[in-house]
Amino acid sequence: MISDDRLTRLSTADKAALTSGSAFWHTTAAGDVPSIMVADGPHGVRKQSGDPQGDMLTGEPATCFPPAVSLGSTWDPGLVRRVGAALGEEARAMGVSVLLGPGINIKRSPLCGRNFEYYAEDPLLTGVLATEWVHGLQGAGVGASLKHFAANNQETDRMRVSADVDERTLRQIYLRAFERVVRQARPWTVMCAYNRVNGVHAAQHHWLLTEVLRGEWGFDGLVVSDWGAVVDRVASVGAGLDLTMPGPDDTGDRALARAVEDGTLDTAPLDASAARVIALVDRALAAADPEATYDADAHHALAREAAGRGIVLLRNEGGLLPLPESGTSVAVIGEFARTPRFQGGGSSQITPTRLDDALTEITVLTSAPVTFAAGYSVDSSPGFSAAGQIWGPAAERLAAEAAEVAGAHDVAVVFLGTVNETEGADRDSLDLPAAQLAVLDRVVAANPRTVVVLSNGAVVRTTPWDRSVPALIEGWLLGQAGGGALADVLFGRVNPAGRLAETIPLRLADHPSALDFPGEAGHVRYGEGLHVGYRGFDAREQEVAYPFGFGLSYTTFAYGPAAASVTGDGVEVRVPVTNTGGRDGREVVQVYASRPGSRVRRAPRELAGFATVAIGAGETAEVVVRIARDDLAHWAPWLRRWAVEGGEVVLAVGASSRDLRDTVTVTIGGDDLRVPLTADSTLAEWMSDPRGADVLGDVFAAAASGGAMAGLAADPSTMLFLGSLPLSRLAAFPGSPFTAATIGRMVAAAND
Ligand code: BGC
Repeated sequence: MISDDRLTRLSTADKAALTSGSAFWHTTAAGDVPSIMVADGPHGVRKQSGDPQGDMLTGEPATCFPPAVSLGSTWDPGLVRRVGAALGEEARAMGVSVLLGPGINIKRSPLCGRNFEYYAEDPLLTGVLATEWVHGLQGAGVGASLKHFAANNQETDRMRVSADVDERTLRQIYLRAFERVVRQARPWTVMCAYNRVNGVHAAQHHWLLTEVLRGEWGFDGLVVSDWGAVVDRVASVGAGLDLTMPGPDDTGDRALARAVEDGTLDTAPLDASAARVIALVDRALAAADPEATYDADAHHALAREAAGRGIVLLRNEGGLLPLPESGTSVAVIGEFARTPRFQGGGSSQITPTRLDDALTEITVLTSAPVTFAAGYSVDSSPGFSAAGQIWGPAAERLAAEAAEVAGAHDVAVVFLGTVNETEGADRDSLDLPAAQLAVLDRVVAANPRTVVVLSNGAVVRTTPWDRSVPALIEGWLLGQAGGGALADVLFGRVNPAGRLAETIPLRLADHPSALDFPGEAGHVRYGEGLHVGYRGFDAREQEVAYPFGFGLSYTTFAYGPAAASVTGDGVEVRVPVTNTGGRDGREVVQVYASRPGSRVRRAPRELAGFATVAIGAGETAEVVVRIARDDLAHWAPWLRRWAVEGGEVVLAVGASSRDLRDTVTVTIGGDDLRVPLTADSTLAEWMSDPRGADVLGDVFAAAASGGAMAGLAADPSTMLFLGSLPLSRLAAFPGSPFTAATIGRMVAAAND
């Protein structure tokens, strides 16, 4: 625990006050400890003026960088780090000490309303990118808040629902990215989630907040509550939560002070929490700079670059894209081209410094005629619901106009998207609004040379309509410069290099989470276990629309033979990749690991490493993917610890989880996976353990009935019947040599 004079000078009441906010965005000043400001996040700085008349969400203008859905699709740690650093600069210039991000929950279901704030359905990709984001942000002197810890994978009933998840799945899928970021980037703070985890509120989950986070991972920062997540201050502080937000919470402060005074709560947890608040304030003030500024133009340019890199080209039949910058007239269809959908709803909503729209940016990049037709409406004026879901005469007029404009131009670019992705609510369908799809049908009939550009915070269903269009661009939510980035990709100024960080299923019912989302009666069972996202699709050998890791380029890449070697701390995979097309481009080389014959249930393939490389036209790059030994470990459920299973590791190298170009096998040494034998271990478990079998043999030899027993045990069909009996139960059988005393001696001998 931090020993600090300032702490010892504080009264219990002051210490309690320190552990809750003074207002929505400020910590409490007490004694010599001043207050600091925090703000949302994550893809921009949402600094609120504090005007009590102001609305809940509007902040001062700040760069709206691409939300995590797009950053995740870049698969580019270096780029994500630069975005983190730019966010840090802005936060510092705005006097914000902690930016409330990154959000690193796993996209368990495509329906989660907040998926746009999260990176991927895979923990390795999420963890690698978020680590860099935190390095970038904190390198600029602003603290991160890793959120939402943990298992906050849906918005439905988010303040009460219990995520019921087995420990191995929790560790390997839902905690894994948190663990990586905590260990590698040392975030200043971690934000606990609203929900319960296996029945216990995350805000008062001692195992999560203290045993795992601090005890196992060595977290030395501060745990802050999500806003309004705390139901019982005393229980929360006792469990390891340091700062309750927002504040003030006078009632909670008093309850906390009383609990310490009457001995219900030890002094130590309150002292520890108050000390961590002081340490955070110190850290923040040491890094603060009232003179700091940032370059809004440079950040807008970075936002455009990052957005361009997050765009995923899903389809490009006959090379319709990129469009030439002259000589091809363009019909731009869809309200989202003029009124960009650039971020999702809720606490992450940024007031951008400026906002590019694709329509204007397309007209800037082409010298050929461009005509716009709205196609559908995104307002709720009479005749329409949001995004024109109601089909009426006004909608009919817009659709007819869109078809006419499309037919009169060389190519039609149709902007479609979702309207309702927000914090606080999940979607109930993967489908695009029906009225938008009806407009698309009309446009395609008028002009088959149609490109669809999607704006969405999580995947939408693309079948069957994608077969009717030659080109499809997944444009996610791209932040304030997304309009320019889309134009860059449409006209080939940027060669698309984004890759899917989430599978696009053929239909919702196929999704591994489909039967257990969003749960009911306060519980959501993570029934698919480890088989989240592509792991589940692969395990069930299901077709998907577009697989995890997929994305096209305007060039092509050929993979040479891969080679792999075991190194001191993992495995190194090398593969030559040649850009066989006529344009410079980027390839994301992915390595998936399989463990044939594993003793534990596993997904057929798991992302084990990746590398994002720029390769010039006609050039070959020797791509190296390093896989840390830790990333080959699994949570051994019987031992309740991480372990690497020795033996063959099959490494498939490719351009997506379903486009595997070469496979190499290495043999790695394993950790000790021996499970200690107990009285409850079965006869089969005793026999399959070399030491156990010896001990068992000695007992058989010494017992009067031993010969018969040994005979039975040697007979395979009898063993099918008897093998599953724990030794302790066999003790009850007549003639059994296993008395309690014998079993006690056997256990000692087998494990000694
Ligand atoms: C969200 C957090 C956010 C906080 C503060 C909560 O509703 O879940 O992500 O940081 O509000 O706005």
